[in-house]
Amino acid sequence: AAKVKTVSAGKLTMVTNAEFPPYEYHEGNDIKGIDVEICQAVAEKLGLKLEIEDVAFDAIIPEVTSGKADLAAAGMTVTEDRKQNMDFSDTYASAKQLILVKDDSTLAGKDDLKGKKIGVQQGTTSDLMSTEDFGDDAVVRFSKSMEAVQALTQGKIDAVIVDSQTAEQFVKEVPGIKALDASYSDESYAIGVKKGNTELLNAVNGALSELKSEGKLDEIVTQYTKA
Ligand code: ARG
Repeated sequence: AAKVKTVSAGKLTMVTNAEFPPYEYHEGNDIKGIDVEICQAVAEKLGLKLEIEDVAFDAIIPEVTSGKADLAAAGMTVTEDRKQNMDFSDTYASAKQLILVKDDSTLAGKDDLKGKKIGVQQGTTSDLMSTEDFGDDAVVRFSKSMEAVQALTQGKIDAVIVDSQTAEQFVKEVPGIKALDASYSDESYAIGVKKGNTELLNAVNGALSELKSEGKLDEIVTQYTKA
């Protein structure tokens, strides 16, 4: 295949926020996770070397729109607003929003969150949705969702709202918290590219569909979500 043009010749630069296990997280000096493996496989198919840039979640889209990174790969939910700023690949995973509370909490579902303090990662769909549902005053924004979880265990907030697979990961890692059964919102994750960059978008979609038919995509997801 003909080489696609990227922001740095020979490289495919992915921008992410590595605070979102199992999609992207720090392990020692490395950044690992589903998105990393997917982009690594995409880069290989395009004959490029993967570079990873780790920024605050709400700085991801600007990195792509300003031409500093090729791909936003961050368990990023496709939304109408974000589509104004980036073009999205075919979706590669789906998620819901889960509510995390302390083990001894009496909160049972979304309706119980009225008047409570809800922790979220700044700029995420959890932030946007809880702000819409419960009002700005109810929402406590953190730069990392793990900081929200820590505030929860310390009793500083009543609940954390975060994407389902990340929530399940936190429940495994952090003693004393549980996820409520009632989930809400259906979201799809996709890779973002600079608006109008159809050459790169088509290359990414082509690589994704190959990875799907090779069974590689499922393999990556299973590897990171098995118990
Ligand atoms: N899916 C949510 C969103 O798009 C959360 C993504 C958080 N990702 C991350 N790498 N921190 O807003």
